[in-house]
Amino acid sequence: MKFTDNAHMSDLIRDDYRLLQVIARFGIGLGFGNQTVEAACQAAGVHAPTFLAVVNCITGAAHTSLASLVQQVSVAELMRYLQRSHAYFIDFRLPAIRRKLIEAIDCSAPNQIAFLILKFYDEYAAEVARHMDYENRHIHTYVQRLLDGQLPTGDDSYAKLEHQHHDNHASLTKSSHELKSVIIKYYPSDTDTQRLADTLMDIYIMEEDLLSHCMLEDTLFAQAVQHLEQGVRESISQGEAPAATANDTTATAASPDGLSEREKEVMRLVVSGLSNKEIADKMFISANTVMTHRRNIARKTQIRSSAALTIYAIVNGLINLDEVKI
Ligand SMILES: [Fe+2]
Ligand SMILES: [Fe+2]
Repeated sequence: MKFTDNAHMSDLIRDDYRLLQVIARFGIGLGFGNQTVEAACQAAGVHAPTFLAVVNCITGAAHTSLASLVQQVSVAELMRYLQRSHAYFIDFRLPAIRRKLIEAIDCSAPNQIAFLILKFYDEYAAEVARHMDYENRHIHTYVQRLLDGQLPTGDDSYAKLEHQHHDNHASLTKSSHELKSVIIKYYPSDTDTQRLADTLMDIYIMEEDLLSHCMLEDTLFAQAVQHLEQGVRESISQGEAPAATANDTTATAASPDGLSEREKEVMRLVVSGLSNKEIADKMFISANTVMTHRRNIARKTQIRSSAALTIYAIVNGLINLDEVKI
């Protein structure tokens, strides 16, 4: 079942409890009553099309419509989601399972197998941490530069960075299979089987969560970043200021002067009296990106003064009079 922005948030969880994790990582609190996806996202300041794209990818409902989702998502929002997922695995989930594992296996006795299993687990956790650290430090830094409208120099590209990282998802899966297999096949039976089975269940659930995370990176995120990268390259080769995000590159035909939705939002906040920094914080983008939007707005509307911009926004119905800072 493919969810749309009219769906109720509670229905998402009823349909697939794994979406609880998605909701939490987007920073949407529970207790949403009968709120729709659109209302809950708006209240939490989350880009609803990106939230829905992740939800529908994880539930498997989006496999035939990935190309159109790529056009709609905010790369910045998607990247924040992936970074929150990294923090969850590294700072919370892996240490929590380690604590349970220590309680489940007998580390107090001279039990070589218990220590070897713990060592195996620590090596697996370190491999996951290295993998996510590479993404945070290299891939996401590269993507942030694209979002800021900069095309990295030399032959840097997302495809090249991803290629260097390519085998890691398969390697993570192999390592977690081995970890489960070693515990199931070789841990002596003179232990608290219930506790060990419970820990194994946690490892299975974490593995499934990690697989979903890797799948999102290999599909939606990879394609959205390459779409963004292509847009930045084209803008720069045409001598234009680049669009800030993948979904910015498509201005709607009905927009005055071809302004994109993000540009209209920046204009609305400018004429409401917000500073570049305040706009950047509100839209979860960098101050450089706000400046890029403002240059694009000036170029498209041929308007530079804020007073004229305010009149333009009112006349074109982009803002109500009571929102304007006089
Ligand atoms: Fe990741
Ligand atoms: Fe990854």
